Amino acid sequence: MLSVAILAAGKGTRMKSSIPKVLHKISGKTLLQRVIDSCIELNPDKIFVITGHKSKEVQESVLDNKKIHFVIQDPQLGTGHAIQVLCKEVKKNEGKLLVLNGDVPLIKPNTLKKLLNLHDSKNADISLITTKKINPYGYGRVFLKGDFIERIVEEKDCNTQERLHLLINAGVYCFNWKNLAKIIRSLQSKNKQKEVYLTDTVSLLKTSLSLELEDNGELQGINNRIQLSKCEEIIQNSIKEKHMLNGVTLINKASCSISEEAEIGRDVIIEANTHIRGSTKILSNCIIGPNTFIENSNVGVNCAISNSTVYDSQIMDHIKIGPYSHIRPKSKISSYVKIGNFVEIKNSQLDEESKVNHLSYIGDSIIGKFTNIGAGTITANFDGQKKHQTKIGKNSSIGANTVFVAPINLGESVTTGAGSVITKDSKDNSLVISRTKQVNIENWGRKKPRSN
Ligand code: UD1
Ligand code: MG
Repeated sequence: MLSVAILAAGKGTRMKSSIPKVLHKISGKTLLQRVIDSCIELNPDKIFVITGHKSKEVQESVLDNKKIHFVIQDPQLGTGHAIQVLCKEVKKNEGKLLVLNGDVPLIKPNTLKKLLNLHDSKNADISLITTKKINPYGYGRVFLKGDFIERIVEEKDCNTQERLHLLINAGVYCFNWKNLAKIIRSLQSKNKQKEVYLTDTVSLLKTSLSLELEDNGELQGINNRIQLSKCEEIIQNSIKEKHMLNGVTLINKASCSISEEAEIGRDVIIEANTHIRGSTKILSNCIIGPNTFIENSNVGVNCAISNSTVYDSQIMDHIKIGPYSHIRPKSKISSYVKIGNFVEIKNSQLDEESKVNHLSYIGDSIIGKFTNIGAGTITANFDGQKKHQTKIGKNSSIGANTVFVAPINLGESVTTGAGSVITKDSKDNSLVISRTKQVNIENWGRKKPRSN
């Protein structure tokens, strides 16, 4: 039987934040959810998440899973105290208990499996992951005696000599739960921080084993924003390397970010300052960026999107967007469409080969095939209370500066006069024009300014 306990009750004082530490995010996912996801693959019987500081917020952040049980630790008197509370709350302390710090988010399922295998093979009381850090500052230093761990000394309790010791505790433990439960109450808080340390269990249990691993970034703990950004960099580097090996060019790697879920096809070029977020999928031969943000959207083949923002939309094939356009949620842009400078599209469908090239707002609209929307065209879709639809049929030619006061339904092959304010529907093949006629008054002559 395997149970997991994730320690997530602490405040995270060193983050200097009103958000609980485990709810800070790296590459879009909270530290806590990352730790949960890493242990789900082990198929544990139960996962106990120990919460305390802002416990409601922390509990609500966790994605639903039947195996997860929350245990409240209040007050929070240290990592050892968290496990004391757990042992008391759960009546049957049996099997293996894998304890994971909620602030060590990059741990991989395979590494956890290695720890469990070592633990089983040696029938240990406690096995924990250690690594040598060039800069061990902030971590508990692990001292061995022969094959066993003798003691762990926390940063604040180290003397000068101990502080130089490089082998550290990664915050990932496997316990024989029954044996742990026997000694857990004996933990004390006689240390500089006056906390009950879980690490003190190594001296109370008989067989304490260390699984020493290379420091490959996976064991990075997060106590402050510098370490948060270090983890972000570690994840981003591995995501970007994966895409580059799959045939994606990153022009200025450091200035871009890509979500873990994103899929990017071959021969896509990602220019500088470009951010691909959420479940975005980009097919082959596109040029994305520079300065572009795409979230939860699909982009087809051969598209070029520059200096623009795209949210929750479908961009088909051979489309040019930008510079400086904003495609807002629920837009469907069909193949060979061109969206030019300073154009905002929202909840609209643009059919094949239509064009909106300059300075327009198209909201809640359907624009037919081959239709050209002139510069400065606006769909006035909001009457102060409700949004209304604008429908412009195929092959239409919309004059510059046309305003459509929705709801409007223009037919096909309709032309609107530049500067028109359209308030009525029209039939196919019409010329629709609504503006005051130009009057030229000849010999009008400006009066000369009066001189004193
Ligand atoms: C801890 C270890 C240290 C190790 C390091 C690895 C102890 C005493 N020290 O130090 O040896 O090198 O992690 O990253 O365990 N938490 C609770 N309840 C509490 C206190 C903390 O649930 O009462 C949770 C925190 O939310 C956090 C985790 O336990 O997720 C670790 O706590 P933290 O204060 O960050 O410990 P470290 O100082 O990093
Ligand atoms: Mg920590």
